[in-house]
Amino acid sequence: EQDILNQLPLKNKHVLITAGPTYEAIDPVRFIGNHSSGKMGFEIARTAANLGAKVTLISGPTQQKLAHKSVEIVPVISAQEMYDAVHAHFKDCDIAILSAAVADYKPKDVATQKIKKKTSTLSIDLIKTKDILASLGAIKTSQFLVGFALETQNELENAKGKLKKKNLDLIVLNSLQDKGAGFKTETNKVTFIAKDTTVTAFDLKLKSEVAVDLINEIIKKIDA
Ligand code: CTP
Ligand code: CA
Repeated sequence: EQDILNQLPLKNKHVLITAGPTYEAIDPVRFIGNHSSGKMGFEIARTAANLGAKVTLISGPTQQKLAHKSVEIVPVISAQEMYDAVHAHFKDCDIAILSAAVADYKPKDVATQKIKKKTSTLSIDLIKTKDILASLGAIKTSQFLVGFALETQNELENAKGKLKKKNLDLIVLNSLQDKGAGFKTETNKVTFIAKDTTVTAFDLKLKSEVAVDLINEIIKKIDA
């Protein structure tokens, strides 16, 4: 049994993963959110743990469940909470995979009381959230840093831009063009772009299969 465990490719590796949406409060009863299911991140966590990794999974609000002795789930709500949790764990991780659909903007002020229905139109000022992935790219030392890019136009060009700007080792381009790819589905159509400019495109697959492809790619790059 010991020999089998020694062969696990991610043994002794600590993998940090973000998953799901974030919710940004408007008032005590309302928020700005998105349709992320968290499925992709949870599948990546499961795959990494099955290959021997210790996994810290920082997840926004989701219905996903994962019981695995090597996976610690840290639940968060907002982009700021996710930022804080990620930074608390980044220094001692070997691989960080940021698949969460983090809100880009949040309400500038959170109303302390429920906003009452009065005027015929209502505007809420929004301010940018912190870019968690970019903040890790700016401080990383030996960690292998992986981001996602959700694009609807100029896909490759935009994804390559994010890889460079955020100082990533690998970016997963998520194509929303095909029916059957994206937030509410069991499948994704992805392309991996590595720092060394290698581009690997895949067909539409189950998210569980995409997770295996991604972890395989990371292992290859780390060993190279
Ligand atoms: N990301 C993050 N923190 C944010 C916004 C995004 O960590 N505040 C991460 C996502 O988890 C993903 C990557 O950045 O890994 C790219 O997210 P995406 O929404 O595709 O790109 P943005 O940089 O937010 O740019 P835009 O939405 O304008 O395309
Ligand atoms: Ca975004």
